[in-house]
Amino acid sequence: MEVIICKDYAELSKKAAEIFTEQINNKPDSILGLATGSTPEGLYENLIQTYKAGKLTFKDITSFNLDEYYGLSGDDDQSYRYFMDQKLFNHVDINKDKTFVPDGLAKDINAFMDDYEKMIADKGGIDLQILGIGINGHIGFNEPSDSFSKKTSLVDLTPSTIEANSRFFDKYEDVPKKAISMGIGTIMRSRKIILMASGENKQDAIYGAVKGPISPKLSASVLQLHPDVTIIVDEAAGKKLL
Ligand code: GLP
Repeated sequence: MEVIICKDYAELSKKAAEIFTEQINNKPDSILGLATGSTPEGLYENLIQTYKAGKLTFKDITSFNLDEYYGLSGDDDQSYRYFMDQKLFNHVDINKDKTFVPDGLAKDINAFMDDYEKMIADKGGIDLQILGIGINGHIGFNEPSDSFSKKTSLVDLTPSTIEANSRFFDKYEDVPKKAISMGIGTIMRSRKIILMASGENKQDAIYGAVKGPISPKLSASVLQLHPDVTIIVDEAAGKKLL
Protein backbone atom coordinates (compact mmCIF):
# COMPACT_ATOMS: atom_id res chain seq x y z
CA MET A 1 0.00 0.00 0.00
CA GLU A 2 1.50 3.30 -1.06
CA VAL A 3 0.30 6.45 0.72
CA ILE A 4 0.71 9.83 -0.96
CA ILE A 5 -0.03 12.87 1.17
CA CYS A 6 -0.70 15.96 -0.96
CA LYS A 7 -0.82 19.57 0.13
CA ASP A 8 -4.44 20.09 -0.75
CA TYR A 9 -7.43 18.90 -2.77
CA ALA A 10 -6.16 20.41 -6.03
CA GLU A 11 -2.87 18.55 -5.75
CA LEU A 12 -4.51 15.22 -4.88
CA SER A 13 -6.92 15.52 -7.81
CA LYS A 14 -4.01 16.20 -10.14
CA LYS A 15 -2.01 13.26 -8.79
CA ALA A 16 -4.96 10.87 -9.24
CA ALA A 17 -5.51 12.21 -12.78
CA GLU A 18 -1.86 11.54 -13.64
CA ILE A 19 -2.19 7.89 -12.60
CA PHE A 20 -5.47 7.58 -14.53
CA THR A 21 -4.02 9.17 -17.66
CA GLU A 22 -0.99 6.89 -17.53
CA GLN A 23 -3.27 3.85 -17.19
CA ILE A 24 -5.41 4.86 -20.18
CA ASN A 25 -2.43 5.81 -22.33
CA ASN A 26 -0.72 2.48 -21.55
CA LYS A 27 -3.90 0.50 -22.18
CA PRO A 28 -6.42 2.50 -24.25
CA ASP A 29 -9.10 -0.18 -23.85
CA SER A 30 -8.80 -0.24 -20.05
CA ILE A 31 -11.72 -1.37 -17.91
CA LEU A 32 -12.19 1.40 -15.36
CA GLY A 33 -14.01 1.20 -12.05
CA LEU A 34 -15.47 4.62 -11.29
CA ALA A 35 -16.77 6.30 -8.16
CA THR A 36 -19.09 9.17 -7.32
CA GLY A 37 -19.19 11.54 -4.36
CA SER A 38 -17.57 14.95 -4.09
CA THR A 39 -14.02 13.57 -3.75
CA PRO A 40 -13.46 12.39 -7.37
CA GLU A 41 -14.97 15.53 -8.92
CA GLY A 42 -11.55 17.22 -9.17
CA LEU A 43 -10.08 14.10 -10.75
CA TYR A 44 -12.83 14.11 -13.39
CA GLU A 45 -12.29 17.83 -14.07
CA ASN A 46 -8.58 17.18 -14.61
CA LEU A 47 -9.34 14.28 -16.96
CA ILE A 48 -11.72 16.46 -18.99
CA GLN A 49 -9.00 19.13 -19.32
CA THR A 50 -6.44 16.53 -20.40
CA TYR A 51 -8.93 15.18 -22.96
CA LYS A 52 -9.63 18.68 -24.27
CA ALA A 53 -5.91 19.28 -24.59
CA GLY A 54 -5.79 16.25 -26.91
CA LYS A 55 -3.64 14.19 -24.56
CA LEU A 56 -6.20 11.52 -23.68
CA THR A 57 -8.96 9.57 -25.36
CA PHE A 58 -11.71 7.48 -23.78
CA LYS A 59 -12.95 6.04 -27.06
CA ASP A 60 -12.05 2.42 -26.26
CA ILE A 61 -12.73 2.58 -22.51
CA THR A 62 -15.31 0.48 -20.70
CA SER A 63 -16.38 1.60 -17.24
CA PHE A 64 -18.27 0.12 -14.32
CA ASN A 65 -19.50 2.27 -11.49
CA LEU A 66 -19.23 1.14 -7.92
CA ASP A 67 -22.73 1.80 -6.78
CA GLU A 68 -26.16 3.36 -7.27
CA TYR A 69 -29.05 4.32 -5.05
CA TYR A 70 -31.78 1.70 -5.07
CA GLY A 71 -35.09 3.08 -6.32
CA LEU A 72 -33.67 5.99 -8.34
CA SER A 73 -33.85 6.11 -12.12
CA GLY A 74 -30.74 7.10 -14.06
CA ASP A 75 -32.61 10.27 -15.13
CA ASP A 76 -33.03 11.38 -11.53
CA ASP A 77 -30.60 14.21 -10.85
CA GLN A 78 -29.59 12.51 -7.58
CA SER A 79 -28.70 9.22 -9.25
CA TYR A 80 -25.09 8.21 -9.71
CA ARG A 81 -25.72 7.61 -13.43
CA TYR A 82 -26.76 11.27 -13.73
CA PHE A 83 -23.69 12.33 -11.74
CA MET A 84 -21.34 10.42 -14.05
CA ASP A 85 -22.96 11.84 -17.18
CA GLN A 86 -22.72 15.39 -15.84
CA LYS A 87 -19.27 15.21 -14.28
CA LEU A 88 -17.42 13.15 -16.87
CA PHE A 89 -19.13 11.18 -19.63
CA ASN A 90 -20.86 14.12 -21.38
CA HIS A 91 -17.54 15.95 -21.70
CA VAL A 92 -15.29 13.27 -23.18
CA ASP A 93 -15.37 10.87 -26.14
CA ILE A 94 -16.41 7.81 -24.13
CA ASN A 95 -18.93 5.47 -25.77
CA LYS A 96 -21.84 5.66 -23.32
CA ASP A 97 -22.97 2.18 -24.32
CA LYS A 98 -19.82 0.95 -22.65
CA THR A 99 -20.42 2.83 -19.38
CA PHE A 100 -22.20 0.72 -16.80
CA VAL A 101 -23.81 1.96 -13.60
CA PRO A 102 -25.99 -0.37 -11.50
CA ASP A 103 -29.67 -0.01 -12.40
CA GLY A 104 -31.48 1.41 -9.39
CA LEU A 105 -34.79 0.34 -10.88
CA ALA A 106 -33.85 -3.23 -11.87
CA LYS A 107 -37.01 -5.36 -11.66
CA ASP A 108 -35.25 -8.59 -10.76
CA ILE A 109 -32.58 -7.09 -8.55
CA ASN A 110 -30.81 -10.37 -7.74
CA ALA A 111 -30.54 -11.35 -11.40
CA PHE A 112 -29.32 -7.83 -12.21
CA MET A 113 -26.59 -7.97 -9.57
CA ASP A 114 -25.40 -11.41 -10.73
CA ASP A 115 -25.27 -10.12 -14.31
CA TYR A 116 -23.27 -7.05 -13.22
CA GLU A 117 -20.64 -9.29 -11.63
CA LYS A 118 -20.59 -11.54 -14.68
CA MET A 119 -20.25 -8.60 -17.06
CA ILE A 120 -17.21 -7.31 -15.17
CA ALA A 121 -15.64 -10.78 -15.21
CA ASP A 122 -16.46 -11.33 -18.91
CA LYS A 123 -14.74 -8.06 -19.86
CA GLY A 124 -11.62 -9.34 -18.14
CA GLY A 125 -11.99 -7.59 -14.78
CA ILE A 126 -11.30 -4.03 -13.69
CA ASP A 127 -7.85 -2.65 -14.51
CA LEU A 128 -8.06 0.47 -12.36
CA GLN A 129 -10.62 1.14 -9.65
CA ILE A 130 -11.07 4.57 -8.11
CA LEU A 131 -12.50 4.78 -4.60
CA GLY A 132 -13.62 7.48 -2.21
CA ILE A 133 -14.22 6.65 1.43
CA GLY A 134 -17.14 7.27 3.76
CA ILE A 135 -16.57 8.78 7.20
CA ASN A 136 -17.27 5.32 8.63
CA GLY A 137 -14.63 3.79 6.34
CA HIS A 138 -17.01 2.40 3.75
CA ILE A 139 -15.87 1.88 0.17
CA GLY A 140 -18.59 1.75 -2.47
CA PHE A 141 -21.50 1.37 -0.09
CA ASN A 142 -19.94 -1.46 1.91
CA GLU A 143 -21.09 -0.32 5.32
CA PRO A 144 -19.60 -1.53 8.65
CA SER A 145 -20.58 -5.16 8.98
CA ASP A 146 -19.66 -8.51 10.53
CA SER A 147 -18.31 -9.90 7.28
CA PHE A 148 -16.92 -8.69 3.97
CA SER A 149 -19.39 -8.94 1.09
CA LYS A 150 -18.11 -11.05 -1.77
CA LYS A 151 -20.08 -9.61 -4.65
CA THR A 152 -22.46 -6.88 -5.81
CA SER A 153 -25.30 -6.66 -3.29
CA LEU A 154 -28.25 -4.62 -2.14
CA VAL A 155 -27.22 -2.87 1.09
CA ASP A 156 -29.00 -0.98 3.84
CA LEU A 157 -27.35 2.38 4.36
CA THR A 158 -26.41 3.25 7.93
CA PRO A 159 -27.86 6.36 9.62
CA SER A 160 -24.43 8.09 9.44
CA THR A 161 -24.22 7.53 5.66
CA ILE A 162 -27.80 8.68 5.12
CA GLU A 163 -26.97 11.77 7.18
CA ALA A 164 -23.71 12.41 5.25
CA ASN A 165 -25.48 12.03 1.88
CA SER A 166 -28.44 14.19 2.89
CA ARG A 167 -26.39 17.29 2.00
CA PHE A 168 -27.14 16.58 -1.66
CA PHE A 169 -30.91 16.28 -1.19
CA ASP A 170 -33.58 18.92 -0.52
CA LYS A 171 -35.17 16.87 2.23
CA TYR A 172 -33.71 14.23 4.54
CA GLU A 173 -36.71 11.98 3.77
CA ASP A 174 -35.69 11.96 0.10
CA VAL A 175 -32.33 10.28 0.77
CA PRO A 176 -32.52 6.64 -0.36
CA LYS A 177 -32.08 4.12 2.43
CA LYS A 178 -30.72 1.34 0.24
CA ALA A 179 -28.13 1.07 -2.50
CA ILE A 180 -26.69 -1.45 -4.93
CA SER A 181 -22.96 -1.72 -4.37
CA MET A 182 -20.07 -3.72 -5.73
CA GLY A 183 -18.92 -6.04 -2.96
CA ILE A 184 -15.54 -6.02 -1.26
CA GLY A 185 -14.74 -9.16 -3.26
CA THR A 186 -15.57 -7.30 -6.50
CA ILE A 187 -13.38 -4.35 -5.54
CA MET A 188 -10.49 -6.56 -4.42
CA ARG A 189 -10.44 -8.34 -7.79
CA SER A 190 -9.43 -5.03 -9.48
CA ARG A 191 -5.84 -5.10 -10.64
CA LYS A 192 -5.00 -1.62 -9.36
CA ILE A 193 -6.84 0.59 -6.86
CA ILE A 194 -6.62 4.29 -6.03
CA LEU A 195 -8.41 5.54 -2.93
CA MET A 196 -8.79 9.29 -2.54
CA ALA A 197 -9.80 11.28 0.53
CA SER A 198 -9.91 14.95 1.38
CA GLY A 199 -10.77 16.86 4.53
CA GLU A 200 -10.48 16.46 8.26
CA ASN A 201 -13.70 14.48 8.59
CA LYS A 202 -11.99 11.59 6.76
CA GLN A 203 -8.92 11.41 9.03
CA ASP A 204 -10.20 8.57 11.25
CA ALA A 205 -11.42 6.54 8.29
CA ILE A 206 -8.03 6.96 6.57
CA TYR A 207 -6.11 6.05 9.69
CA GLY A 208 -8.25 2.93 10.08
CA ALA A 209 -7.82 2.01 6.42
CA VAL A 210 -4.03 2.32 6.54
CA LYS A 211 -3.06 1.38 10.11
CA GLY A 212 -6.10 -0.20 11.69
CA PRO A 213 -6.89 -3.86 12.08
CA ILE A 214 -8.32 -5.46 8.94
CA SER A 215 -11.98 -5.66 9.77
CA PRO A 216 -15.36 -5.47 8.02
CA LYS A 217 -16.22 -2.85 10.65
CA LEU A 218 -14.12 -0.45 8.54
CA SER A 219 -14.30 -1.92 5.09
CA ALA A 220 -11.44 0.10 3.54
CA SER A 221 -9.00 -1.70 5.90
CA VAL A 222 -9.24 -4.76 3.62
CA LEU A 223 -7.19 -2.81 1.06
CA GLN A 224 -4.11 -3.56 3.18
CA LEU A 225 -4.30 -7.06 1.64
CA HIS A 226 -4.40 -5.85 -1.97
CA PRO A 227 -1.10 -5.96 -3.91
CA ASP A 228 -1.49 -2.62 -5.73
CA VAL A 229 -3.23 0.15 -3.80
CA THR A 230 -2.36 3.84 -3.78
CA ILE A 231 -4.00 6.01 -1.15
CA ILE A 232 -3.96 9.68 -2.11
CA VAL A 233 -5.01 12.12 0.60
CA ASP A 234 -4.63 15.78 1.40
CA GLU A 235 -2.92 16.87 4.62
CA ALA A 236 -6.26 17.20 6.42
CA ALA A 237 -7.38 13.64 5.67
CA GLY A 238 -3.89 12.26 6.26
CA LYS A 239 -3.34 14.18 9.53
CA LYS A 240 -3.18 11.08 11.72
CA LEU A 241 -0.60 9.47 9.43
CA LEU A 242 1.86 12.37 9.59
C1 GLP B 1 -20.90 7.70 -0.91
C2 GLP B 1 -20.39 6.81 -2.04
C3 GLP B 1 -18.94 6.45 -1.86
C4 GLP B 1 -18.14 7.70 -1.56
C5 GLP B 1 -18.63 8.32 -0.28
C6 GLP B 1 -17.86 9.55 0.14
O1 GLP B 1 -21.26 7.00 0.22
N1 GLP B 1 -21.14 5.60 -2.16
O2 GLP B 1 -18.48 5.81 -3.04
O3 GLP B 1 -16.80 7.36 -1.46
O4 GLP B 1 -19.98 8.69 -0.49
O5 GLP B 1 -18.34 10.65 -0.55
P1 GLP B 1 -17.63 12.05 -0.61
O6 GLP B 1 -16.51 11.88 -1.57
O7 GLP B 1 -18.69 12.98 -1.13
O8 GLP B 1 -17.17 12.37 0.77
